[in-house]
Amino acid sequence: MEKAVFVALDYANEQEVAQLLPKLGAAQETYLKIGMELFYHSGSTLVKKLSEQGYHIFLDLKLHDIPNTVYHAAKQLAKLNVFCITIHALGGSEMIKAAKDGLIAGTPAGQSVPKLLAVTELTSISDSILQDEQNCQLPMNEQVVSLAQTAQKAGADGVICSPLEVENLRSQIGSDFLYVTPGIRPAQTSNGDQKRVATPKEAKEYGASAIVVGRPITQAANPQMAYQAIKKEFN
Ligand code: C5P
Repeated sequence: MEKAVFVALDYANEQEVAQLLPKLGAAQETYLKIGMELFYHSGSTLVKKLSEQGYHIFLDLKLHDIPNTVYHAAKQLAKLNVFCITIHALGGSEMIKAAKDGLIAGTPAGQSVPKLLAVTELTSISDSILQDEQNCQLPMNEQVVSLAQTAQKAGADGVICSPLEVENLRSQIGSDFLYVTPGIRPAQTSNGDQKRVATPKEAKEYGASAIVVGRPITQAANPQMAYQAIKKEFN
């Protein structure tokens, strides 16, 4: 299977999505990331519809609650036939395990269990927030590795991380784990608000398992050409 390039659908509603999708190509070859904004508007109906059409869906809702609540939420999400979902590793090993158990329990017979990906520290968390507000004594890179290890031991299938963190994480955690990275910018495209970026080729060289790309595709003059070029560069 080719390595996935997920297009971030950072849109407010399904009408905006409907304008983009025909420009991306065949559903079976298209990977989409749906986050909170679109999900809170269009919900599971849209996710189900897109997965039934053959799109591969990364459902990025970043669950973080008590284990019992996360178990039942994950059980519901497993019915949507998505490729993967996200949780916060900061919710702890019991919560991560509950998410995994919920996914397994909720997946209908004959469907694949969605992959469980953990967010470690958000890239918006600076070293000073980590120390002064989260009262964490570890430097950021060690904290990210520690959270990824916790996630792996608790049953997560991978982590979301910066492309610049993949090599270090892979060396400490191993290859039997997914490393999915946003912050991708092809050469000659604008960084926008992203600070620590890599090209698709660099992400591949660092060892990313899959990448997430938004504006360089969704705001391109020709989204299909941009998507194909990024897929080619990453694979
Ligand atoms: O448009 P752009 O390529 O920057 O979009 C990246 C996508 O990945 C957005 O949906 C953004 O919310 C998400 N993301 C990110 N950095 C993280 C986690 C998620 O850019 N650390």
